Amino acid sequence: MLKAYDSGVECLGILKGWKGFLENLTIPLNIAEHDDLHTVGGTILYTSRTNPFKGVSSKEEKAKELTKKFNDLEIDALIAIGGDDTLGVADTMYKHANAKVVGVPKTIDNDLKGTHYTFGFWSSTQLASNAMDNLTTTARSHQRVFVVEIMGRDAGFLTMYSGISAGADIILIPETPFDFEKDIVDILKKRVNAGYKYHIIATSEGAYPKLESLNRDFKTISKETIDKLPKDTFGNPLLAKLGMSQIIIDELNLRDDLKEEFQKNGVEFECRSVVLGHTMRAGTPNSFDRILGLRFGLAAMKLILEGKFGNMVSLQGNKIKTVPLSEGVGKKYLTADNDKMELRDLLVKIRYLSKQK
Ligand code: F6P
Repeated sequence: MLKAYDSGVECLGILKGWKGFLENLTIPLNIAEHDDLHTVGGTILYTSRTNPFKGVSSKEEKAKELTKKFNDLEIDALIAIGGDDTLGVADTMYKHANAKVVGVPKTIDNDLKGTHYTFGFWSSTQLASNAMDNLTTTARSHQRVFVVEIMGRDAGFLTMYSGISAGADIILIPETPFDFEKDIVDILKKRVNAGYKYHIIATSEGAYPKLESLNRDFKTISKETIDKLPKDTFGNPLLAKLGMSQIIIDELNLRDDLKEEFQKNGVEFECRSVVLGHTMRAGTPNSFDRILGLRFGLAAMKLILEGKFGNMVSLQGNKIKTVPLSEGVGKKYLTADNDKMELRDLLVKIRYLSKQK
């Protein structure tokens, strides 16, 4: 809005994402009333999970119909702000109807291919890291195993970064399906024998066991449980419905061998689960995200003024770059060569090895 005002461009806010676009739900956006917007969490435009292309037979026809709506809304161009789903709609509109759209990557999941970071990610990571720091107090006092469930859908960035930041003892992410016996039970046994009295397990809401482990180790769920999960409007499985943290707790409580190992070391065997859920989308953004949001907005407005549609703004290193929406809107996941993977494995292993008697 800052650049728009400076360039004599009038801004209109479209409410509730693509739902508001379809239903002409708009508000005027005057910088005079919103000059501190970057310091406030959430969005004054509200949001929704609406996919205008859901179930359409011809994407081209739908894209042309949607692009005509620019006239109804009396807008010349559109800045779409959101994750892979939201920006995927903008990309389809550009591809099939040459819509005058520009994308700004925004999701706490940080799972958008075209940018190193999305704004909201680091604020959410900090919230989860702080929560695990705080839980350590009660875990230590009660000698408990805490399984903390962290958002991120099917990408593990939030869990990996917040888990490493808080020094979680076990970190489970969707990109590396876990082996319940090897990655949880064995590690807890090694840790308690090395003298640890409490344990924090960070698990993505989308983490899930390897099929071999699911069939071998699990008593409370099966492959059908995962297959039956409901899907959202974009076809994403609602992984949070799985409730992985409680499943892990239930399975741990069935392991008498583990209880015996804890008791042999004079340590209580009590497990609790904590689902951070929407507390990770709360509060005010941190400075990194406030500044990134402003930088993205400035860059997006400049793309509009230069008529460079069909692109999204991107953070690469510490530079703001432009990538075509068609390249940027895919999903990104943590890869095996990512140094956080090695850090996680070292954090888990070296701790108990270094303390073994
Ligand atoms: O995509 C962001 C996100 O917070 C995910 O991490 C989470 O699984 C999902 O949204 C929750 O969606 P809702 O707020 O619709 O329950």
